Amino acid sequence: MTDLKYTRQTITHVHTWVADKLFSVHVTRDPAFTFQAGQFARVGLPDASDPDGAPTLWRAYSMVSAPQESGLEFYSIVVPDGLFSPRLAQLKAGDALYVEKKPFGFLTINRFAPGGDLWLLATGTGLSAYLSMLRDPATWQAFRRIIVVHGVRSATELAYRQEIENWHQRPELADHVQQDPCKLIYLPIATREALPGMPQARLTTLIEDGGLEQLAGIPLDAQQSKIMLCGNPAMLTDARKLLSERGFAPGRRGIPGNLAVENYW
Ligand SMILES: Cc1cc2nc3c(=O)[nH]c(=O)nc-3n(C[C@H](O)[C@H](O)[C@H](O)COP(=O)(O)OP(=O)(O)OC[C@H]3O[C@@H](n4cnc5c(N)ncnc54)[C@H](O)[C@@H]3O)c2cc1C
Ligand SMILES: NC(=O)c1ccc[n+]([C@@H]2O[C@H](COP(=O)([O-])OP(=O)(O)OC[C@H]3O[C@@H](n4cnc5c(N)ncnc54)[C@H](OP(=O)(O)O)[C@@H]3O)[C@@H](O)[C@H]2O)c1
Repeated sequence: MTDLKYTRQTITHVHTWVADKLFSVHVTRDPAFTFQAGQFARVGLPDASDPDGAPTLWRAYSMVSAPQESGLEFYSIVVPDGLFSPRLAQLKAGDALYVEKKPFGFLTINRFAPGGDLWLLATGTGLSAYLSMLRDPATWQAFRRIIVVHGVRSATELAYRQEIENWHQRPELADHVQQDPCKLIYLPIATREALPGMPQARLTTLIEDGGLEQLAGIPLDAQQSKIMLCGNPAMLTDARKLLSERGFAPGRRGIPGNLAVENYW
């Protein structure tokens, strides 16, 4: 028998955040599949005409689940004309989902030297990779403060908001929170709807006009801060330009930098 590149896993639960747009799938995990928080898996489905056949269609999905969790969790958008995401959204508990045996990606905290403040900037489903990091105690140990900025079109798209807002209550994080009640700062940003007490603006605008620093109460300076960007490629391009003007750059030749990015399409 050939040694397959993937394993067959089973969906255990599907959670809908916004009907026909945003959902999370919980899947069993092959115990041999190990990864670092922030990495992504290649996830597969068989051809629609041969649902019991071998997987032929593959897409990248960041793990939402932490490396320590027994199952896998993915957070997905439904792209109306997409080949993969509308089919993923139709799956139910008990259905098969294929996962390649090796994880991919370099959006991990070991890209940075430990210490300082970790800024996690996402648009849309780019939040996925950060959830895995937040669920991994190593992230909390490595940085002084963590600032999560989630940019979406409207408030209903702020998936995982409650989980992030309740993080301070987790018993395993009690020591960190006791030392600094502002250890985790969460900034939900909407562009097409006003959120109470928050500016209605793109996160790039808030980098440019200083609004992000004001909201966090922390300076975004290249000496003290490490930044990750994940999600919409146009946001990545715009944010990279603004941040490079302020001294942020990816690491090179083994020298850790203060900027790391992941493009979703
Ligand atoms: C490293 C990496 C990690 C990824 N992680 C995730 C993830 O955790 N969750 C997730 O939903 N997607 C993620 N994606 C995107 C995912 O691989 C698919 O592209 C997406 O699910 C749509 O698949 P599709 O076949 O339906 O449409 P595709 O044909 O793949 O995409 C069609 C178009 O839809 C838009 N699009 C694609 N993905 C997104 C998205 N996530 N948000 C908004 N618009 C999008 C783009 O305009 C794209 O050109 C990731 C991609 C990469 C490269
Ligand atoms: N939202 C919907 O009504 C809807 C419904 C069904 C399906 N879809 C599908 O979902 C996809 C869009 O998903 P999404 O809304 O999660 O992703 P998105 O278009 O990337 O938007 C997410 C957030 O990123 C912001 N953004 C976009 N470009 C940016 C840039 N250059 N700099 C800074 N911020 C930027 C957006 O602001 P702006 O608002 O200013 O663009 C928005 O706040 C589309 O492909 C569509 O097919 C959308």
